[in-house]
Amino acid sequence: MSARFLHRMGLASVPPPAPVPDGVVVRRYAPDRDHARVPAVFAAAFGAPPWPDDWDAFGEFDPHGVFVAEAPASSEAIGFVICFRRAGFGYVSVLAVVPGWRRRGVARELLRSAVGYLRGLGLNRVEVDAFTDAEPAVGLYRDFGFEVLRTYEDPEGRADGETAPRRADPGDPGTDPPDPTA
Ligand SMILES: CC(C)(COP(=O)(O)OP(=O)(O)OC[C@H]1O[C@@H](n2cnc3c(N)ncnc32)[C@H](O)[C@@H]1OP(=O)(O)O)[C@@H](O)C(=O)NCCC(=O)NCCS
Repeated sequence: MSARFLHRMGLASVPPPAPVPDGVVVRRYAPDRDHARVPAVFAAAFGAPPWPDDWDAFGEFDPHGVFVAEAPASSEAIGFVICFRRAGFGYVSVLAVVPGWRRRGVARELLRSAVGYLRGLGLNRVEVDAFTDAEPAVGLYRDFGFEVLRTYEDPEGRADGETAPRRADPGDPGTDPPDPTA
């Protein structure tokens, strides 16, 4: 098994608003409505087993930093993003859109909600991790205005072809300096 690498990417600029599919709504996470829907979207988007029921039981979890995209009419959950505060910066942890709704601007809109939330917390520094070989994710983040800050070996040692984060928090290279402006 060969090592896999992640890009740590930082937000350099936010793009102007772009159209999303008619009727798609991005809503803030509501536990009663969304707790079971987020792992289901994760499984559909990554082709991976759904997270266990306690997927939100990690120290950095912030329910206000989770947004869910819903399809028009059916209100079916078609995407989500999870973000939270880290030491001095905002971190976008997982972003996923189900296959049938891709390339229609849903992820861009979810990302815009996450970045808006983090900036509202006063966190102007916003970062994500993306596997270097995950072209859709790297393409999305670059398109949105993120740039590669550094590239590092996956600390969780995930196998070739394993694209899914194992947990909502995919880990951290541990080299982040404190942000005096945060
Ligand atoms: C990555 C992902 C979230 C993108 O969702 P999406 O709703 O299709 O993305 P959008 O339609 O908002 O795309 C916005 C821009 O991102 C870039 N992008 C999106 N998908 C891309 C792809 N497959 N290849 C290259 N660039 C891509 C494009 O620049 C796109 O703009 P365009 O369609 O006008 O060219 C989706 O493919 C997915 O869920 N993948 C599996 C999970 C994953 O890898 N999540 C990210 C890491 S946690």
